Amino acid sequence: MAASLDGFIARKDGSVDWLETLDEFAGGETLDPGFVEVFLKTINCYVMGSRTYETALSFEAKGLGWAYGDKPTFVLTSRELPRTRGTVEFYSGDLAQLVNGQLRPKFRNIWFVGGGAVSGECLRLGLADEVRYSILPILIGYGIRFFEKLDRDVALHLMELKAYKSGTVELRYEVRGHRGEPRNAAT
Ligand SMILES: NC(=O)c1ccc[n+]([C@@H]2O[C@H](COP(=O)([O-])OP(=O)(O)OC[C@H]3O[C@@H](n4cnc5c(N)ncnc54)[C@H](OP(=O)(O)O)[C@@H]3O)[C@@H](O)[C@H]2O)c1
Repeated sequence: MAASLDGFIARKDGSVDWLETLDEFAGGETLDPGFVEVFLKTINCYVMGSRTYETALSFEAKGLGWAYGDKPTFVLTSRELPRTRGTVEFYSGDLAQLVNGQLRPKFRNIWFVGGGAVSGECLRLGLADEVRYSILPILIGYGIRFFEKLDRDVALHLMELKAYKSGTVELRYEVRGHRGEPRNAAT
């Protein structure tokens, strides 16, 4: 996901208006649309939380399109939500069971779209192999965290970093695993 420098992926009300920033970093790379297209082809399915899905639906309603193409998209929810396309499937229950039991045998490259609740759960359950974290040149002070309710340390290995002309820094980490015992997130 893309986050502010202070680690938020959305404001508390879910808005992501701040994702458009105006910085320029002379030494940065330009994001090649051809590269993005090739990269997106490597993703075999998407998983997202219901609030991220609702944001995606609102973008679509504003004419901004559906970012997930014709790839199977699994939406985690315990509610009845509108299903605007046949590629969307709803799931409620154990995330580890969905990922390890149903998705891994069928899909090589599973992309967790977010948001913070789902990415926190994903790391907590040890389901992620990699974390892709883009830092935008902005501070927003408060909001929804990239990883909500993470209850222990997770060791990472930095695999790649790129800085773009837009001032965005893209980090790619391999997840090395949990360290230590779970703790109360409030402490
Ligand atoms: N900056 C970025 O790159 C980026 C990327 C993605 C998202 N976002 C933003 O992040 C915000 C949403 O993040 P969020 O943390 O609030 O929510 P979220 O992770 O998108 O969705 C959380 C919700 O998903 C449902 N859910 C999660 N796990 C479930 C399970 N195992 N079984 C059934 N339902 C489950 C629950 O809702 P219900 O059961 O009540 O439906 C839960 O409240 C949005 O504003 C979105 O735009 C930003």
